[in-house]
Order: sequence, then C-alpha cells, then structure tokens
Amino acid sequence: MKELKKRAAALILDAAKKNFSAELPSPEEIESMLEYPPDPAMGDIAFPCFRLSRTLRTAPPKIAATLAEGVHDASFSKIEAVGGYLNFFLDSSALAGRICSTIAAEGDMYGSPRTGNGKTVVLDYSSPNVAKPFHIGHLGTTVIGHSLKLLHEFAGYHCVGINYLGDWGTQFGKLIVAYRKWGSREEVESREIDELVALYVRFHAEAENDPALNEEARREFAKLEAGDEENLALWRWFKEISLREYQKTYRLLGISFDSYNGESFYTDKMPAQIEKMKQLNLLTLDDGASVVNLEEWKMPPCLILKRDGSTLYPTRDIAAAVYRYDTYRFDKCIYVTSAGQSLHFAQWFKVVELMGYPWYDRLVHVPYGTVSLGGAKLATRTGNVVLLKDLFREAIDKVREISAEKNTGAAGSEEVAEAVGVGAIIFYYLSGNRMHDINFSLSDALSFDGATGPYAQYTYARTCSLLEKAGGVPATDGIAFDRSLTEEERTLSRVLALFPERVTEALDTYEPSVITRYILDLCTAFNRFYHECQILTAEQESIRRERIALTAATHTVLRRALHLICLKTPEKI
Ligand code: ARG
Repeated sequence: MKELKKRAAALILDAAKKNFSAELPSPEEIESMLEYPPDPAMGDIAFPCFRLSRTLRTAPPKIAATLAEGVHDASFSKIEAVGGYLNFFLDSSALAGRICSTIAAEGDMYGSPRTGNGKTVVLDYSSPNVAKPFHIGHLGTTVIGHSLKLLHEFAGYHCVGINYLGDWGTQFGKLIVAYRKWGSREEVESREIDELVALYVRFHAEAENDPALNEEARREFAKLEAGDEENLALWRWFKEISLREYQKTYRLLGISFDSYNGESFYTDKMPAQIEKMKQLNLLTLDDGASVVNLEEWKMPPCLILKRDGSTLYPTRDIAAAVYRYDTYRFDKCIYVTSAGQSLHFAQWFKVVELMGYPWYDRLVHVPYGTVSLGGAKLATRTGNVVLLKDLFREAIDKVREISAEKNTGAAGSEEVAEAVGVGAIIFYYLSGNRMHDINFSLSDALSFDGATGPYAQYTYARTCSLLEKAGGVPATDGIAFDRSLTEEERTLSRVLALFPERVTEALDTYEPSVITRYILDLCTAFNRFYHECQILTAEQESIRRERIALTAATHTVLRRALHLICLKTPEKI
C-alpha cells in the first residue's frame, strides 16, 4: 500500500502543479496527508483537500474537483472527488491476487521492514527490584519491552535483552534487618519470595513507629557494600530466590533475557566515570553532594554522589550505558520504564552527552502511563499490591472456568488455558497507547466477545481449522480473482496489505499498540468475510481456492502479528 500512497501523492502533486500556482508541499508531506478511509465506499486511499485550502486559497470541494479532472492512472480503477476529498479506488482483484501471492511467497517474513540488518539494539526492560514484589506495575515494562524486542528482531536487528535487576540498594539493608528480627531460614525456604515480601512490608510498617530501624538498615547496607561476608551471603540468597520466582513469570510469558546484569554488576564500573566527570569539570558541590548542573537545559541537577560519597541511581545508569556501548556497540539502547522516570533519563542522557560520548543520541527512553486496578493506584511499600503471578493465575483459572462452561478446547489443556489467560492480560494491556493510564479489568480482558486477546486467538484458531478442513494451504499460482469481489473480500485484502506499514509505524513510534489495533482490524475483517462469504462451500472451484488463499494469508499475518505482541497461538481454543 505504501507504493500506492506514493503513487497517489505524485499524481496529486502533478495535477496541483498544472492547476494552481501557489507553492506546494513536498511529495512526502502530501503522502503523510493521505488517509485510509474506514468506509470502503469512500475509496481505498483518500486525500483530504482542506489541508491545502489555505495555501491554495480555494475551497476544499473545488480543489478536489479540479484535481479529479487532471488525474488518471493505471494503478487505480477510479479517482473521484466527493465533497472535500479526492478518493482513490484500487483495482481490488489485482490487489487481492497480489497480496495473496506476496504473503504466500514471503511467509512469516511478510511485513518485515528489513531495516535492521547488521545493526544492534540493546533493550533494558522488566528490571524488577529484587526482594520487592513483582507487581502489576511491572507489566508495562515487561510486555512493552519484550514486544519492542520482537519487533526489532522482526526488522532484522540483532537484539540484546537486558534485565537490569534492581539488586543493590538500601532495600537489602531493610531486608537483612527484617530477616534477623522476624524471619527464619525455614520460613524463607518454604515460602520463598512471599516471605521476603512479607518481611519487606513488615519492615515498613514497623519503621513507621520506630524510625531507628531505618538507621539500622542503612548500617547493614553499608556493611554489605563494604563486603561483609555474612550480609553478602544473605544478599546472594535473597537474589537467587527472587530470580527463581521471576523466571516462573517469564516462562509463562515466553520471555527470556540475554543478560541479567543488574545494578550490583556496575559497582566497580562507576569510579572511572566519576573520575571522567571530575576531569571534565562537570561536578559541582551542592550541599555536600556532587551533582551535574543542568540549569541550562531547564532540568534539576543530576545527582552523582551523595554527601557520604555513595553512588546513586543515575551514577549506575551512566556506568551501565558506557559498559553496554563498549560491549555491544549498539545502534540504539532502549529503556522501557514508567513515565515517572522520564526526568531521570533526560538528566543522565544529558550528562552522557556532556561527557562527550558520541553515542549519546542512541539512547532512547520509552515511557508508559500508570496502571490501576479497580481505580486504586498501586503502591509497593504497603501490602496493597497485586502480584503479577496472582493476576496471571486468576486469568488462567477464569479461562478454565469459561472453557468448561462453553466446552471448548482450553477445557482440557493447561497449555491452552495458560496461553489464553496470559494472552488476555497482555492484549488488554497493549490495546491503548502506552502513555494512557489504564484501569485494569480482568473481566473485560477475558471477554470472548469483545476486542480482546481470546477473541483474536479464537479467530486465529478458526483460520487453522478452516485450513485443516481445506486440506492445507493451496498454491497461489493461477489465483487471479478474475471477478468482482465482495465487499468483505475487498476489505480483507486491503487490511492484509496494510500490515507492513503498521509494523513500520509501531517501530518508529515504539508503540506495540499499533499492532494490537491492527490485529483487531484484521480479525474484524476476517470474521465478516467468514460470515458473509462461503469459503469451503463456494460453488465455483476457482472462488473456493481464492477464498482459501485469503484465509491462508490471514493465518500467516495474524500469527506473526500475535507473536509480535507476545501472544501465543494455539491451534484450537
Ligand atoms: N529497577 C527499576 C525500577 O523498578 C527500573 C530500571 C530501569 N532501567 C534502568 N536502566 N534504569 O524502577
């Protein structure tokens, strides 16, 4: 469709040059003004002329009518003015034939922009804080991050997924104190992460009344930093337990990381960077702390060292970025976190620039909005958190219940119930723009009839069963669509043709929801086609083959699109 848009833009410009004398926008600008009308009666590509009416000092309908007179082209079956729009109609038989054979030939690589060959992208995502709960607030970084990784891989980039574990900091002092006061080895061994979280939560509750506990925690962390063997052993143990727990969740999501180098890994890599900042005269003292002044860029100072000389979150991030560049020579390094951390990233990105690292502009922060559940915002420090594993468990159980009632395939298969339950949560989460705050509703996410993951997976399973009944995927040669197509066939072909552009848009905007919305468009188009057109029972053999080819094309694209947003694709639901 991209080429056709380009063609339409060129035609519009030609006709405009002939008829108007004003200065005209560039072909790229015209192209970006083109729309895909939702109603096929309005054409396949439309040009809203009001965008030009000021420059041309002419009313939009007049512009549309004038342009329509001057354009003719073999790429389009009809070009006509309707109100202020110039509408381009495709030869839909040609489009359907072309799209079916392209998808059959390219298979699951159809839609890849192939822009990443030879390039490396590092993605820093998920990164929970060890011994704190892995809760619903981490869903965003985990699934947006992983989906961005899959999208980049699809485009041909070499990707390195890094789980930058929060495995260092005063929370370990707190946990060590809490464990010694109220915990026991047996309890931690049997209840694992649940016990660690309980201890952590109890520490905060008790410290409310007894602030001296905080001082004690700071001391224990200082001991840990100084290499105290006993504290180090506890730290390693807590970390191991937490990791084992996270891995269960990652397995459920089908996620694996290439590196688990967390914050602690960079401890010995910070001094060299601090030294460099000193040499460049970047550090100034602010109430005893060392900071980089960023006033000129209208940001508060970036904190590098506390009064007591200990390092901070930005210090570690800077050292980590340098290490990653030296190790991976990335073309891009992407960080996915909640928007609450946007200032932190803007600050230390600027410091990296001031330090003279030429790759500073390859650092990308991808923020996202907040998640709440039933309207309540989630807090980590109180017990009021929804753990990710509990959310998934509940979704999986509900899927099993629904399937038992409906007597569907998931009833008998744990694997399918997991794929559908977990998929429902991911799909729901990735439905809106990432910056929108979201209020989670499990029953909405799980509805089999709504715009949901189960609906999309169900549609995919439908394509599987149709193809199975058809005896496999037919060869597409000789499929000509040499007839006038039904509206459903036209729409489906057009949606299939849009996939490559949607992938590019998702990559350019770091927005997996572009794919989620595309999946819904594709499912809607396919289900209409399925209900309105006879596929296996079509009377003419040639039509039957054409419709099976459209089903096979949908199957390929839907499967790829679902995988791009971390959903699994069971063949039966
Ligand atoms: N552990 C941090 C948190 O949970 C997120 C880390 C993000 N990555 C980074 N390089 N700062 O808030």
